[in-house]
Amino acid sequence: MRPIEISPSVLPADFARLGDEIATLEAAGCDRIHWDVMDGVFVPNLTIGPDIVKSCRSFADIMFEAHLMVVNADEMAPLYVDAGCEVVMVHAEACTHLHRSLDNIQKLGAKSGVVLNPHTPADTIQHVLDVTDHVLIMTVNPGFGGQTYIPLVAKIEAVKQMVDTGGHDIDIEVDGGINAETIKECAAAGANVFVSGSALFRYDDRATGVAELKGNAETARS
Ligand code: DX5
Ligand code: ZN
Repeated sequence: MRPIEISPSVLPADFARLGDEIATLEAAGCDRIHWDVMDGVFVPNLTIGPDIVKSCRSFADIMFEAHLMVVNADEMAPLYVDAGCEVVMVHAEACTHLHRSLDNIQKLGAKSGVVLNPHTPADTIQHVLDVTDHVLIMTVNPGFGGQTYIPLVAKIEAVKQMVDTGGHDIDIEVDGGINAETIKECAAAGANVFVSGSALFRYDDRATGVAELKGNAETARS
């Protein structure tokens, strides 16, 4: 079984103190930092460029993952690898040649991630698992933090079955509306990595939040 990991979205962070915020998330026991990159075209919001990610790289040792919600994912991917992201995740809906996009990310020396919007069927990724290290299943429509969770248990189970049947060593990650409750059904369905933004930032003590999220996920999948 792949380990349970918490990957906080930085959207709720205080952008005036982003480096310090990243350091506190690492200190709280987070396993990765989830950079929500938005271009204002693929999604109706504009967020984080590669230079901001690069400026924060030295504040933490944990993995940086770039969630590219952009129309030009192929052009943007190398910039976020250069900025220090070990994982670059691209939307299946934004990549005409998805297999090539993911293969190119791996050829850059990074881990590749394919992202599925809530409406996109699980079998969209059937023929790209050989060049995929992470599958990110959106449980909100991308563009904003703090949205209402969309239950997609059957989809998570379908991805898990595809991954297991093919013998792939792939993380299954969910993103959007993940809190101490919703994490349970996602973990039980087969997800092992959990993006949490607003729910985690609501805890007075982030370490408590990370521990509760991890504990609930471990219990749910056991
Ligand atoms: C939405 C982003 C998510 C979001 C998660 O487009 O991809 O990562 O920020 O935030 P919460 O956990 O608040 O839904
Ligand atoms: Zn995200």
